Amino acid sequence: MSMPEAPLDRLRAQCWSSTGDLLYFNSAAHGLLPDCARIAVEQYLTDLQHGASEQEFSPAVERLRTNLAQWVGCADADLAFCQNVSAGLNIILRGFAWEPGRHILLCPEIEHPTLIWAARALDPLGVKVRTVPAPRGQVLAEDVVAAMSDETQMVALSAVSYLSGGRIDLAKVGAACRQRHVFFLVDAAQSVGFARINMKEQFIDGLVANVHKGLLGLAGLGFLGVNRQWLPHIRPLVVGQESVDSRQEPWQWADSARRFEVGHRNSVAAVATLASLELLGSVGIDAIERHIVNLRHYLVNCLMAENLRVLAPDADSHIVAIEPHQGSAAELVQALSARGVKAAARGQYVRFSLHAYNVYDDVDRLLDIVRRDNLR
Ligand SMILES: Cc1ncc(COP(=O)(O)O)c(C=O)c1O
Repeated sequence: MSMPEAPLDRLRAQCWSSTGDLLYFNSAAHGLLPDCARIAVEQYLTDLQHGASEQEFSPAVERLRTNLAQWVGCADADLAFCQNVSAGLNIILRGFAWEPGRHILLCPEIEHPTLIWAARALDPLGVKVRTVPAPRGQVLAEDVVAAMSDETQMVALSAVSYLSGGRIDLAKVGAACRQRHVFFLVDAAQSVGFARINMKEQFIDGLVANVHKGLLGLAGLGFLGVNRQWLPHIRPLVVGQESVDSRQEPWQWADSARRFEVGHRNSVAAVATLASLELLGSVGIDAIERHIVNLRHYLVNCLMAENLRVLAPDADSHIVAIEPHQGSAAELVQALSARGVKAAARGQYVRFSLHAYNVYDDVDRLLDIVRRDNLR
């Protein structure tokens, strides 16, 4: 009689089935698509060829809404679909009821460019940007709280930095924001699916993420969660049939985050993500996070033993960034790629990123290659 597969092994088998000898350390760019998601997409395409209409996929899209709301700790009604993280951040930042003379606080040293640009583009509205430092790639909650003043109207941070892997104590920042009635906006693109995140418990007012990284879905679908109390303070900038409550005259905005949606959703990405979430859910976010964090600590220790400088070495996340000894990050990534290792260059750093389908043997094989060919 064969033993039932352990959930982490099943995840590995589903995601690693087509990689051959490839060593995949690039989940921060795109999670590996599991077989079940590929099959869901194939079924979607078959259904279309058999004349299915978009409406027939609505139940799947709504199931995904409920599912995602559970993953980030908000109500279904507080979650809206959007195109991607950039679109979601803009919905909140550009629609927000900014008051004259007040500012947004962020940490540009380790923040994703999309949030930096979205914040800087508020300049014509009179919104200034104030910054917090991130020594060694790690922004500290205490520093964020200390940098807040009466002029701070919003704090906007990535829960995990796409660059350094630094992870911030969201609950600490969120509690300080809640106390001062400051809007707390979190870019969760590098958190959801990799680690536990919860809008209610961590006092997050606005959360934006996409589905193709930690959630192992497809690109081109994102979502935002909005604390209901703030809904009247964010004006939708575009309108479509999904945004309104048309049952009465004069018409009104939908009484939910749906007011930020306009037309058809990316239903092919939705069906893929739904299948992936079922698989991830069978492992559970706590087991996923535990495995990833242990593996990161192992990888960091191995790289530091090779005298490589690692950013945010103590962070409990899935991202490890190193500065090469010689040559550029792009050159090192290319050299690794030629040896079957998929990593990413981000600025001057080489970024290795993990998911729960990576195993200790992947790290050992990576280190063998680094040592054998002196790739530092
Ligand atoms: C933290 C973070 N924010 C934003 C983005 C941009 O996401 P999108 O292309 O979905 O707008 C990424 C990754 O691409 C990211 O890692």
